[in-house]
Amino acid sequence: MKRIGMLTSGGDCQALNAAMRGVVKTMKNSKEEVEIYGFLDGYRGLIYSNYRMLQSSDFSGILTKGGTILGTSRTPFKTITEPDENGLDKVKAMKQNYYKLNLDCLVILGGNGTHKTANLLREEGLNVVTLPKTIDNDLYGTDMTFGFQSAVDIATDCIDCIHTTADSHGRVFIVEVMGHKVGWLTLNAGMASGADIILIPEIPYDIDKVVDAIENRKKNGSRFTILAVAEGAISKQDAKLSKKEYKKKLENRKYPSVAYEVAEQIKEKTGEEVRVTVPGHTQRGGSPCPYDRVFASRLGSEAAKLILDGEYGFMVGYKNREIVKVPLEEVAGKLKYVSPDASIVKEAKMLGISFGD
Ligand code: F6P
Repeated sequence: MKRIGMLTSGGDCQALNAAMRGVVKTMKNSKEEVEIYGFLDGYRGLIYSNYRMLQSSDFSGILTKGGTILGTSRTPFKTITEPDENGLDKVKAMKQNYYKLNLDCLVILGGNGTHKTANLLREEGLNVVTLPKTIDNDLYGTDMTFGFQSAVDIATDCIDCIHTTADSHGRVFIVEVMGHKVGWLTLNAGMASGADIILIPEIPYDIDKVVDAIENRKKNGSRFTILAVAEGAISKQDAKLSKKEYKKKLENRKYPSVAYEVAEQIKEKTGEEVRVTVPGHTQRGGSPCPYDRVFASRLGSEAAKLILDGEYGFMVGYKNREIVKVPLEEVAGKLKYVSPDASIVKEAKMLGISFGD
């Protein structure tokens, strides 16, 4: 008999349900008897003992369902070791609830912050297996996270639609794509949709270079320019500021986000009409794409195998087209950035895409 606690933490994404279904179906198909406890709203459920015992029927029909049947919340790692407003020690509470239910293992689905807490729980002696979710694809130790491909599809669709309007009106359009710290989503959606300029956090931009790229297109007879700009895109000037100075600058910024700032600067320098589109959370929503359904199911199934074999302390990841188990201590606290020297960036540049650098 295996008693498993499961939770989804951090921002939601597509295929969380597919991954959980993969775990449970594989466990149920084994000879082992299994009990599943679903903690609600992320680590909060584990801290405050808010859970539901789940049956096979809970996992039926959810392969294609977006969001998470368990609910989720953000519980920042830096607050996890601080007592709550009533003085409760959160780490102690999570351990107590784990032992109270006599669990064999926790299956934790999450991104970067979630993995820091999962690793802390491992260090505290709990058995943990994790699954890599995030539309940002920024989790260290895996080439791919589930949710990413679905979000690429949505952001690509959005830019595709903007293309026709940009062409009809002869305008400059900026589509702001999710990703505060890394640019995988913007880079892939931008390339997939034929964006002319791609601005990502890892490659700080010079607004004059961005303007040059727009002017050059005009000179070459193009009626419009499309920019895919990551939420976290940063100018070369701002990249020189300390973290604290930049944070302060953002607090006082008169624009709702970077796309509007870039739009204003382009308008001033070129006199062009510029429009901004922000698909926002639509990028995390709806049904997972077929790739993510398959990928998340595979990861879930391999996570179940680890549990059946009694192997704990790993994230199930994907490296060089193989499913792999990655020690949690290798994953926690690190991000997977787009290297400015990555071949995909070089290829994008050879295709004529400007990064404003
Ligand atoms: O980490 C996923 C993500 O969608 C990021 O791309 C984005 O910057 C952030 O979450 C938005 O967070 P929230 O849903 O809390 O507004």
